[in-house]
Amino acid sequence: MQLLGISGSLRAASSSTALLLTLKERLGPDITLTQAVIGDIPLYNADHDGGAAVARLRAEIEMASGLIFVTPEYNYSIPGVLKNAIDWVSRPAYASPFKGKRCMVISVSNGALGGVRAQAHLKYILNGMLAEVPPTMEVVVPRSQGYVREQHFDDESILKFATQAIQDSFKVPGR
Ligand SMILES: Cc1cc2nc3c(=O)[nH]c(=O)nc-3n(C[C@H](O)[C@H](O)[C@H](O)COP(=O)(O)O)c2cc1C
Repeated sequence: MQLLGISGSLRAASSSTALLLTLKERLGPDITLTQAVIGDIPLYNADHDGGAAVARLRAEIEMASGLIFVTPEYNYSIPGVLKNAIDWVSRPAYASPFKGKRCMVISVSNGALGGVRAQAHLKYILNGMLAEVPPTMEVVVPRSQGYVREQHFDDESILKFATQAIQDSFKVPGR
């Protein structure tokens, strides 16, 4: 199974990206995870097609068996960079590459709530694009910046819980 991971944060020391990349190493032989790059995507403008960066993201989402979003919460919602990238790929409405795509969501925050509001917003957005959000244990990570060491995420219990949630979300039938 080939999964595409999307981090909602562009900064180098991002706890979202550290968690995504650390999880990538733990998913076992049945699941491979590659990270999508969204930092070079232009601002959405329906008068344009978005160019190579958007075409690449669209193709990556089309080809992936499923998506994992790891996103921080910004002002009680998802970061604009993430929403912008999603908006580009969301057309045509109800028939975009998100339709029927299994999309699992993890949220982080350096505050106490682990980005629960961003997580709820992202799931709502995904529902609006007819993506398939698996019913799984909800992974929210509070105080997330404290776990980052050299772009790795360093907390065994969170990694174990998140790995289990991903494996449950993308269960290979018959195993
Ligand atoms: C513009 C901005 C808005 C933020 N708003 C919230 C918020 O509403 N709730 C929250 O829990 N954290 C908020 N934070 C804190 C982020 O959750 C925290 O910085 C997090 O570590 C960012 O994720 P990253 O480490 O992947 O970059 C905000 C941070 C920024 C930069």
